[in-house]
Amino acid sequence: MTDQTKDRVLIFDTTLRDGEQSPGATMTHDEKLEIAELLDDMGVDIIEAGFPIASEGDFRAVSEIAQRSKQSVICGLARAQLPDIDRCWEAVKNAARPRIHTFIGTSPLHRAIPNLTMDEMADRIHETVTHARNLCDNVQWSPMDATRTEWDYLCRVIEIAIKAGATTINIPDTVGYTEPGESADLIRRLIATVPGADEVVFATHCHNDLGMATANALAAVAGGARQIECTINGLGERAGNTALEEVVMAMKVRGDVIPYFTNVDSRKIMHISRRVSTVSGFAVQFNKAIVGKNAFAHESGIHQDGVLKNAETFEIMKPEDVGLAANSLPLGKHSGRAALRDKLRQLGTEVGDNQLKDIFVRFKDLADRKKEVYDDDILALVSATTEGGDAIQLVNLRVVCGTGGPAKAEIELEIDGKDQTAECEGDGPVDAAFKAVRELHPNKARLQLYQVNAVTAGTDAQATVSVKLEEDGVIATGQSADTDTVVASVRAYIQALNRLIVRRSKVGPGADAKEISYKDA
Ligand code: KIV
Ligand code: ZN
Repeated sequence: MTDQTKDRVLIFDTTLRDGEQSPGATMTHDEKLEIAELLDDMGVDIIEAGFPIASEGDFRAVSEIAQRSKQSVICGLARAQLPDIDRCWEAVKNAARPRIHTFIGTSPLHRAIPNLTMDEMADRIHETVTHARNLCDNVQWSPMDATRTEWDYLCRVIEIAIKAGATTINIPDTVGYTEPGESADLIRRLIATVPGADEVVFATHCHNDLGMATANALAAVAGGARQIECTINGLGERAGNTALEEVVMAMKVRGDVIPYFTNVDSRKIMHISRRVSTVSGFAVQFNKAIVGKNAFAHESGIHQDGVLKNAETFEIMKPEDVGLAANSLPLGKHSGRAALRDKLRQLGTEVGDNQLKDIFVRFKDLADRKKEVYDDDILALVSATTEGGDAIQLVNLRVVCGTGGPAKAEIELEIDGKDQTAECEGDGPVDAAFKAVRELHPNKARLQLYQVNAVTAGTDAQATVSVKLEEDGVIATGQSADTDTVVASVRAYIQALNRLIVRRSKVGPGADAKEISYKDA
C-alpha cells in the first residue's frame, strides 16, 4: 500500500509538557529549546511546548519555542480558566502556526475537584473554548479522564466544545485505564454519535499505567482518531505516555495491517531519544522497544549467525531506519580529527570548532585508555563537553576508599582563575569528593538526581554520570563520561554547578519552579 492510499496520522509530541511534568524530569530552558528544534526537524506535526501559566520558566520556554518554530504547530496547555487561556495565547501567538489546548476533568472524580455541577461545567466549557477560539483559530479541547466519564455526558460536552469552535477533540486516557478494544470503540462511537464530529480531528492521549498506551493509541486510530499524542521514550508521569518511536515505527513496519503514515523522519529517532534521556536524566530501559540499547543487539550465537546471513531472520526493521549507524566501526587512538567529525555527523551531531577541539582532546585521552571507542562513547563525550568559560574547573582528584574506613577525597579546583585544594571524608568516594567541591565552592544546591550508567560493555567501559541540581527554584544539569566513575561524577557535578551559576545570573530565582500543576484544574 502506498502513502497515497493511506491516511495520515498527525503526531502531537508532549515531551516538553506531559513528559517534563514527570517528577525529576525537569529540563532547563536551553534544553527545552534544543528538544523542540529536534522535534520540529524530525517532522512532528504539533509540539506541546509547555503549560505557560504554570511558571515564568514555562512561559518563557513556550514563547521562545513559538518564535523559533519552523514547520510544527506550537501548542500551549491551559486550564479551563480565562487567565490561563490568555497567558497561553501570549506565549504561542508568535508561532508561525499557534494552537491553544484547553482542558477540564469531566469524569465524576474530576468534576468533584472544582466542585462544579454537570451544567456548570458545560457552561464553563462553552465559555472557555469560545474565548480560546476568539484568540486563535486552532483550538484543541480535552475532557480529562474521558475514559472514565459517563458516556452521555462525554457526548454532551464534546458537542459543546465543537460548537464553541474547537478544531481538535482529544480523548485522554488520563490514568491509563482503557484497553485496546474499548479505546477503538470509544472513538468510533463518539465520531458516529456527536453532531459535528466529522468536522474536527479526534486525538488520542494514552498513559501507560497498564503497559497498553501504544496499543490503545493505535486502536484509537483504527477507531477514527487521526492525531496521536505521545512523548519521546514514553516519558511522562507515573508509567509515562505513549512512546512516539513505538507508534511511528509500528505504522511504518506494519503498514500492511496498520495502514496509516506519519510525517516523522524515523531516522532521527535515536538521536532525539538519547538527548531526551540525557537532559531529563531518565535512562532508557535496555530492552525498551525501538530505542533500548538491546533493541537491535543480537547476543546469542544462533541469532548472530542468522543476522549475519540474512538480517531479516531476526530483524523486522533496519537499525538505520531509526538512526542507528549500520556497521558502525569503532574509532581508535590513531583516528584523527576528521574521522571524529565525520563520525559525529553520522551520529546526527553537528558541533562548532571549539567544541570539536574539546571533544577531540577527551577522545584521545579515552582512546589511550580504551582500545575501541564506540558510537555511544562518542555521544557521551559530546554530552560531557561544556560551552567553555567555566568558573569552576577540576584540576586534580585523588580518592582513597575501601573496606577499612570512610572514603577520603583530595581535590584541586581552579575557581575564578585561582587554584584551591580541599580534603574531605565521606560515605563512599563520590560523597567525599562532592563534599570537597562544596567546601571550596559553598552552595545550597540540592541534588535532585545522581545517575550512573555504563556506556558500553566491559570493565573498561565509560560511566556516564548525570547530575541535576536545584537552588532557589533554578535547575541545572551536568553530564560527564569517564572510565573512572568518580571522576565522571565530579565533572558532572561541577558542570551542573557552573551552569547553575550562569542560569542564576540570567534568569533569577524561581525561574524553573512550577507554581501551578495541571491537576489544580
Ligand atoms: O493525561 C491527561 O489527561 C492530560 C491532559 C491535560 C490532556 O495530560
Ligand atoms: Zn497526560
